[in-house]
Amino acid sequence: MKVNVTKRNERGQDIAADQALADLIRISNIVGKDPALVQGGGGNTSVKTTDGKYMYIKASGTALKDMNTAQGWRRMCLDSVLAIIRDPSITKLQTQTREVEVVNRLLLACDDNVTSGARPSVEAHLHGRLDQCVIHLHPSVVSAYLNAKDGQARLEKLFRDEKAQPLWVPYVNPGYTLARTIEKLVAGYRVQFRRMPRILFLDKHGLFVTAPTAGAALRLVRKVIERCGEPLRPPAGTRTRLPEEDQVRAAKLCVRRAFFEATGTYTPVTYTDDRVVAGFERCADAKRLLSCGALTPDELVYSNGPALWVDRCDAQAIAKRLAAQIGAGRKPSAAFLVKDVGLFTAGTGKIAQTVRDVVAYSLFIRANARRMGGIRTLTRAEQKFINEWESEAFRMKLVSGTGQGQLHNRIAVVTGAGSGLGRSIAVGLARAGALVALTDIDEKSAQETAGIIACERSAKQAKVIRCDVTSEDSVRETFEQLLSHWGGLDILVNAAGIAPPYALVDMPADKWRLALEVNLTGYFLMAREAARIMIAQGMGGSVINLSSKSGLDASKNNAAYNATKAGELHMARGWALELGEHGIRVNCIAPGNVFEGSKIWNPEYIKVCARKNGIRPDEVIPFYVNKTALRREIKGQDVADAVVFLCSDKARTITGQTLVADSGQVMVR
Ligand SMILES: NC(=O)c1ccc[n+]([C@@H]2O[C@H](COP(=O)([O-])OP(=O)(O)OC[C@H]3O[C@@H](n4cnc5c(N)ncnc54)[C@H](O)[C@@H]3O)[C@@H](O)[C@H]2O)c1
Ligand SMILES: [Zn+2]
Repeated sequence: MKVNVTKRNERGQDIAADQALADLIRISNIVGKDPALVQGGGGNTSVKTTDGKYMYIKASGTALKDMNTAQGWRRMCLDSVLAIIRDPSITKLQTQTREVEVVNRLLLACDDNVTSGARPSVEAHLHGRLDQCVIHLHPSVVSAYLNAKDGQARLEKLFRDEKAQPLWVPYVNPGYTLARTIEKLVAGYRVQFRRMPRILFLDKHGLFVTAPTAGAALRLVRKVIERCGEPLRPPAGTRTRLPEEDQVRAAKLCVRRAFFEATGTYTPVTYTDDRVVAGFERCADAKRLLSCGALTPDELVYSNGPALWVDRCDAQAIAKRLAAQIGAGRKPSAAFLVKDVGLFTAGTGKIAQTVRDVVAYSLFIRANARRMGGIRTLTRAEQKFINEWESEAFRMKLVSGTGQGQLHNRIAVVTGAGSGLGRSIAVGLARAGALVALTDIDEKSAQETAGIIACERSAKQAKVIRCDVTSEDSVRETFEQLLSHWGGLDILVNAAGIAPPYALVDMPADKWRLALEVNLTGYFLMAREAARIMIAQGMGGSVINLSSKSGLDASKNNAAYNATKAGELHMARGWALELGEHGIRVNCIAPGNVFEGSKIWNPEYIKVCARKNGIRPDEVIPFYVNKTALRREIKGQDVADAVVFLCSDKARTITGQTLVADSGQVMVR
C-alpha cells in the first residue's frame, strides 16, 4: 500500500498544499488577465498537491483573474473526486437527477475552510483524471477549428511534430458524460503512447492543457494559442464609412425597446464596434453565417445563441422576432448585429461584458470556420441538454447577479446626487435595483455616493457624471455619456437645488438669480433632454421634481426658495400634460425638513432658522420635528421610498401630482 507522508511547516500547514494553491493562483491570474487566452470569462484551472491527496480548483462563478488566497477556489479530496466518475450507481441515474447528484457530490468532495458556499468548477471531475497542473480555456483561435468541418484534420496537421500528440475529444454532453469520456480516452491514450496526453482538443468546446508543473502548463498554452492563431485572420469585410453617433444612439434605444416589448423587462444596452465586428458585418454572407445556431455551450448560455442579424432598426419588427423565439421555447437573443452600425448587447452588470465577448468572439470563429470547410454548431439535442443543465443554471445565476428590486435595471439620472436628498434618492433607487447615473457639479461627492452603492449593491449600478444643471452643454454631455454607458433612460430625478436664506429686504439679486438658475432652469434643462430621449425610446418613463413643503406653504426669509419650489410644482403639472401621450409620468415630491446629510441645513442656515424662531441653534431640529403631526424626523430614505414608489409601475395612474413626505405638516387638498 502506498503511504503519503505530508510534510508540515512550522504553522502546521501542508507545505504541498501551500505550494499547490500558490501555483493555482499564479496560473489563474496570468491566464485570466490575458485577453488572448480568456474570453468571455470562460475557463478553469486546477493544481494537485504533490502528495496526490488534494486538488485545488477554481470555484464556479469567479473570474480567473480575480482569484486570490481568500477567494475563487476550493480544495477537493482527489480520491473523492475520482470516486464520483467511477461510481456505478451514478451511471444508472436519469440525466437530470444524475447531474444534480454529481454537483452535490463535487461539493461534498471539498475539504477546506471555505465558508462562502462557492461551488468547485463544474468540470472538476474532468480535471481529476489529468496531470498535476491543468489549464482549461475556450479561446477563439482554438474554437475556430473546433467549430469547423475540417478543424480536426487541420489541428492534426498543425501539431503533427508534437512528441505528445494532442488528444481529440468528440463532442459529448458536458458534466458527467464528458468526465467519463475523458477518463476512457486518457486511459486509451496512455496504453497507446505510454504517457499522459498534454493537449486535449474538445470538440465544440475548448482546450485543455495539462503538465507536471505550472510553468510547463503555461508554456504549453501559449504554444497552442500561437500555433492555432497563426493561419487565422479576422473577418475581411471593410466599412466605407463609420457609423454616426446619432445612428448608434437610435439603434440602442430601438434594441432596448424591442427587448422590453418582447420580454417586459428593462435592460441596459451596450455597443461594440471593433475591427472584428466591422469586418464581419460587411462580409457578403454575414447574415447566413449568423443564421446557424450556437457554436458552443458558452454561446448558448450567455447570449442565447448568435447575434440576431438586423437589416433595419425597427423596434416592432425586432420585438416580433424575439417574441417568436420565446414562443418556440427559446430564450430571446441577447445580441444584435445591426447592419452598417455594429454590435449591440442586452444585459446587466457582470453578464453584459461576458455576453459581448462571447458574441464578438463567435463572429471571429464563424468567419474562420467558414474557410475551413464550414461552420459546425451544437445540434438540437446538445442544446437541449445544456439548456436543462442544472450546473449551467447555477453559473448563470451567479454571474448575472441576483436580488432584483422593483426598479430592476431601470436607468435613472439623479441630479445633486453628491449630497443630502439627491444622495439618499440615488442610493434608494439603486436599492430598488435601478442603474443610477450620479450627477453633481461636485464630482468628488458624487464619487462618494458611488462608493456607498458599490459597497451595498454593485459598482456596476452607479455611474458618476459631472454635470452643472445650469449649463446646456453640460446637460447635453451628461445624457450623451449616459446613453453611451447604458443605452437608455427611464427615470429622471431633479434634486440639485439651493436655498439662499435671506429676508426680502436683504436678498442680493445675484443670489436670487442663482436660485432661479439652479432650481428652475436646471430642472427645465434636464427634463427637456430627458423627455427627448424618453420619447425617442418609446417606453414611457418617470420624471420627478424634488420640490419642498416650501413650494406649497411659503417659509419665512426664503423668497427665492419659495418661488422656485412652487415653480417646480407647476412646471411638472405642465410637463405631465405634454408628456402623458408618450406614457411619461411627471410628479413631484414635497419633503418636509430633512436634516440628515443636507448641506442646505448647514450651521449658517440653522442659525438663521434659530433667529427666525427665537430659539437656540441646537433647538432647531427638535423644534421642526415637533411641528409634524407624526412627531417624526424625516430621513433621506423616507423621501427615497416615495420616489421609488412614484417611479414604479405601482404608480402607473399617477401623474401631475405632488406627494408630500413631511410627517404631516402640509395637508394638500
Ligand atoms: N434638506 C431638506 O430639508 C429639503 C427639504 C425639502 C426639499 N429639499 C430639496 O432637496 C434637494 C436637495 O437638498 P439638500 O438639502 O439635500 O441639499 P444639498 O446642498 O445637501 O445637496 C445639493 C446638491 O446639489 C449639488 N448642486 C448644487 N448646484 C448644482 C448645479 N448647478 N448643478 C449640479 N449640482 C448642483 C450640490 O453640489 C449638492 O451636492 C433640493 O432641491 C431641495 O430643495 C430639501
Ligand atoms: Zn469548458
